[in-house]
Amino acid sequence: MDKIVIEGGVPLNGEVSISGSKNAVLPIIASSIMFDDPQNEISNVPDLEDIKTIKKLLSSLGAKIEDSRENNRIFIDSSGINNYEAPYDLVKTMRASVLVLGPLLARYKRARVSLPGGCAIGARPIDFHLNALKLMGAEINVDHGYVEAFAERLKGASITFPIPTVTGTENIIMAACLADGNTEIRNAAMEPEVDDLINALNGGGGDIKRDGHGRILIKGVKQLKRLSHSVIPDRIEAGTFMVASAITRGDITINDINVAHLKPVTEKLSGTGVKIVINSPTSLRIKGSKVIRSIDVTTAPYPDFPTDMQAQMMALMCVSEGLCVITENVFENRFMHVGELIRLGADIKVKNNFAIVKGVKKLSGAEVMATDLRASASLVLAGLASSDGYTTVSRIYHLDRGYEGMENKLKNLGAIITRVKGNSTVNQAHEEIHEENITAGEGV
Ligand code: EPZ
Repeated sequence: MDKIVIEGGVPLNGEVSISGSKNAVLPIIASSIMFDDPQNEISNVPDLEDIKTIKKLLSSLGAKIEDSRENNRIFIDSSGINNYEAPYDLVKTMRASVLVLGPLLARYKRARVSLPGGCAIGARPIDFHLNALKLMGAEINVDHGYVEAFAERLKGASITFPIPTVTGTENIIMAACLADGNTEIRNAAMEPEVDDLINALNGGGGDIKRDGHGRILIKGVKQLKRLSHSVIPDRIEAGTFMVASAITRGDITINDINVAHLKPVTEKLSGTGVKIVINSPTSLRIKGSKVIRSIDVTTAPYPDFPTDMQAQMMALMCVSEGLCVITENVFENRFMHVGELIRLGADIKVKNNFAIVKGVKKLSGAEVMATDLRASASLVLAGLASSDGYTTVSRIYHLDRGYEGMENKLKNLGAIITRVKGNSTVNQAHEEIHEENITAGEGV
């Protein structure tokens, strides 16, 4: 298992380009199951482990997928689908595999999808998805760890989610696309990734709109013709690089983003004293400030502060001046990064879903272990700020699920960072990082 080794304390400077959104492209790839055309095309697809997993899943169903590195494009022909099962070994590595449930039911009347099981950040149930599909006329049985679903023809229904669910909203949007009649989803997720799915489906013949009051209205259509869509930028990757500039007191220009999607993050970071200049709707510049002000953070569904940025903000608050409270309202166990941040010298106390973070003067390098995707990003950020010694982050396969070439993007911004094979000793890693650093120096 690879590790990342960082020699922190270097302010990051320069420009970085953000990749396509993981959480937008996953449902859009799943939705290709519903399109008749053999040449469905999706561009700005990030090169991530989770994308490899969902491509493997679609291939196992019988779809044909071709990659084209030009504009990170993939082509999907789902006309050959003849298997309707999402097996445990794929679903357990990526719970977003449940997103094939709605499309398979809508187009092929049946699906057998492994229950995703929990993950580091919580139990992650899918009861909202299943109850909604039952309201649409699906027969749902859960047996031996699998959801067995059947529907001769899904019918439109009025569905109210108890709390907003992103993939729940996405599954029902897809199921309702080809249903008989109209479907209304109340208390629907407002995330931009849901809007990107809606745009992709409407571009291929769907009839879906938001009414502006948390409702989504879907008119069932007879068929979907061709999917052809370019995926929105990843707002969480963008937010992560914004924190990288703040935590290293750097000066980074972040390009190929959608500034409007970053509003809750931009507002929160401005409160810490960083300077943010909006260059255009797709680019901003963020300059860190010597003194990082503490600011409370409370996560909630969009348009509030995203839970997927909580761990990254916590890393920044670890080196702020003062004390703040970070409240995690979306997942029940999303503080796995706390213990590892404490190993780097942070002062954090957790009580239920609150973390009280007291800023310290500096963090010191240490060996730490990633536990989940955003926790791994948080540890890399903290390592970049640790001015005393090396930080080694192990189990970075978590990072690879959601960040495309993160260490290279950071290296291009001046970070002293390298990826080493899991079996290399820490000393070997330190030598490697220095060799790379000297070589880089020669290249200047
Ligand atoms: C999506 O997960 C994202 N993943 C997550 O990103 C993100 O953290 C989350 O939305 C919240 O924004 C993808 O889009 C692939 P939810 P999802 O359903 O859809 C409870 C990352 O780091 N719930 O909105 O699984 C649930 O337990 C990942 O990129 C039920 O109880 O999240 C949670 O407490 C992590 N029953 C809350 O709702 C259900 O049937 C919100 O979950 C569904 C959800």
